[in-house]
Amino acid sequence: MNQVTVAVVYGGRSAERQVSLESGTMVAAALRERGYQVIDVDLYGDQGAENPIQQLSNIQFDVAFIALHGGEGEDGTIQALLTLMGKPFTGSKPLASGFAMDKALTKQFWQGIGIPTPAYLCFEGLVDEALINKTMQYPLIVKPSREGSTIGISKVDGPEQLPAALVMAQRYDSDILVEEYITGKEYTVTVIADEAYAPIRLQPSAEHVLYDYDAKYLANDTQYLIPCGLSNEKEQELKELALAAYRSVGCEGWGRVDVMQSEDGKFWVLEVNTSPGMTSHSLVPMAAKHAGLSYQDLVERLVQDALARSVKG
Ligand SMILES: Nc1ncnc2c1ncn2[C@@H]1O[C@H](COP(=O)(O)OP(=O)(O)O)[C@@H](O)[C@H]1O
Ligand SMILES: [Mg+2]
Repeated sequence: MNQVTVAVVYGGRSAERQVSLESGTMVAAALRERGYQVIDVDLYGDQGAENPIQQLSNIQFDVAFIALHGGEGEDGTIQALLTLMGKPFTGSKPLASGFAMDKALTKQFWQGIGIPTPAYLCFEGLVDEALINKTMQYPLIVKPSREGSTIGISKVDGPEQLPAALVMAQRYDSDILVEEYITGKEYTVTVIADEAYAPIRLQPSAEHVLYDYDAKYLANDTQYLIPCGLSNEKEQELKELALAAYRSVGCEGWGRVDVMQSEDGKFWVLEVNTSPGMTSHSLVPMAAKHAGLSYQDLVERLVQDALARSVKG
């Protein structure tokens, strides 16, 4: 029996709670299979009115596996709480988590250091539609700056569709990102402990205009291609770009970088996810499996990485 006790922290109160429940359940089961002592912590779910501070203070554990997605589980808040408690945890520290969660801030930074990301405008509060129509090229993508899982995102083909897309995104965040739509292929690159894994190409069925929430979680018609079909040279370029994007914002432990490729072959980084999905059809486990790591191997590696980093300090 393994002596390490892992608190698997999942649930939470973001829009991605349901996905997190699935991730957390699978992570906890995998760790138990590997002989770890596991405590399930369903944030805001377990003990009714209790808050995360009480929930985490009430238990004895050595390391936390953060299986939360979105909101305070991915934006550095829970990471800061665990830091204050002196507990090691999987994934990035508070600062990198918070930075990466803010798509607009991250894109501004990437533009500054030469990491290609689609042209965009960001609005806090009031959106200047005239400015969008004057300076940007349709089609566009409108997104809440700090959400995940394609929540609140729409593709906009012309100015007449813009108001509805803005209303949709504003339901989730006061900061709105309006980005030029890249027509082409979509890839996602898994990074584990500072190493980029084989990219996966996401090919949604024809009916899905973008890889949206339904396509991701409900439909079974999205194809995941691994190997992704790029030449060795292009695949290497994509992995290096993803790793550079991940490192640039100070990510650690693991992450997943979403990238588009326009028809001229050029890559455009969309975002880095610091607490990616770990469900049965999630992308990180898929990339790990392709590299010969089982789901259990993957989970164990992430826990060991968290412990090793905490020793290094
Ligand atoms: N600029 C863009 N061009 C084309 N497709 C995009 C663009 N931005 C987002 N998408 C599509 O929307 C999906 C979700 O966008 P993303 O920025 O990754 O946000 P999140 O995954 O956090 O919801 C992407 O996986 C992609 O399919
Ligand atoms: Mg994404």
